[in-house]
Amino acid sequence: MRLKIIGTGSYLPEKIATNDDMAQLVETSDEWIRTRTGIGQRHLVSSSEENTTYMAVQAAKRALAASGLRAEEIDVILVATVSGDYVTPSTACMVQRELQAVNAASFDINAACAGFLFGLNTVDAYFRSGIYKTAIIIGVETLSKIVDWSDRSTCVLFGDGAGAVVAKADENGMLACLQGSDGTHADVLTCKARTNNNPYISTSKELDYVYMNGQEVFKFAVRKVPECLELLLQGTDFSPEDVDYYLLHQANYRILTSIAKKLNLPMEKFPSNVDRCGNTSAASIPILMDEMNRQGQLKEGNLLFLSGFGGGLTWGAALLKW
Ligand code: COA
Repeated sequence: MRLKIIGTGSYLPEKIATNDDMAQLVETSDEWIRTRTGIGQRHLVSSSEENTTYMAVQAAKRALAASGLRAEEIDVILVATVSGDYVTPSTACMVQRELQAVNAASFDINAACAGFLFGLNTVDAYFRSGIYKTAIIIGVETLSKIVDWSDRSTCVLFGDGAGAVVAKADENGMLACLQGSDGTHADVLTCKARTNNNPYISTSKELDYVYMNGQEVFKFAVRKVPECLELLLQGTDFSPEDVDYYLLHQANYRILTSIAKKLNLPMEKFPSNVDRCGNTSAASIPILMDEMNRQGQLKEGNLLFLSGFGGGLTWGAALLKW
């Protein structure tokens, strides 16, 4: 048995901040942001109640309703996030409580923008081994609380939101998947947690914010995604042209066009919502998937290639039949 997606859901905060709004905060312009990234606006949380847990729960409820399963039928809940509301409990346990998914083992995954793919990989392995039969996988981020709003090189890039899928063990669905990481390039994209602090050592209590070497991430993504595709297509009869849609992490439209060019494929195969949502990290792929699903763009039997990449460095990919 393997992973098959049977329901999708997403949540985007109502508050929209445009590029012109960004230009009120830092020295930037709509023109710079659009031409370098393709981003036109982003959704941002705008109350203390609208936090990571809240967004994850909304997305999960919608996915669950679409799947037809009841909360107590869920065996495992995985939440991919780097911006949970608590160090403990995990966001997944908070979601479990809100859904009353009383039978679900629940835990978080920290793999930055590749987190949702790590979630799919993990659940697929559980299904193949027979350990579990149903799952909710959520990507959620409130990156707006960990970016430095005076740093124009990062604050204009990110947005908040959540996407979720419900999956069940089935004979169809996932064809192949992979995940990987390279900690030797850990310093390319960072945000420090609390530093050592006890009666014997005291360090600065200043909070750290997201730091990114954008060009390194850009090069890494454009190299890694085609490598992942090649690996997953090996052993199948499919070619890159056979893939109906490439649902890639929505970091930057130029990354998508560079990958499409490298693969010699038309942009119609690379759906994108980065213009409306910015980079929502682990949430970007399930949000995009839910939007396409609800608009009826995903048809039964479609061949999808999913790939996420980001801090760690981390990457993940999946080839699946809808
Ligand atoms: N507005 C105006 N100017 C800005 C700016 C902004 N928001 N952000 C940076 N700049 C300036 C820089 O200060 C620099 O100025 P200088 O030449 O006077 O020093 C100039 O623009 C070029 O900066 P650079 O960082 O070299 O730009 P870039 O062409 O590499 O584009 C990114 C920056 C972040 C858009 C690009 O590297 C990128 O998209 N990388 C991918 C990163 C990503 O998406 N990561 C997501 C994590 S998965």
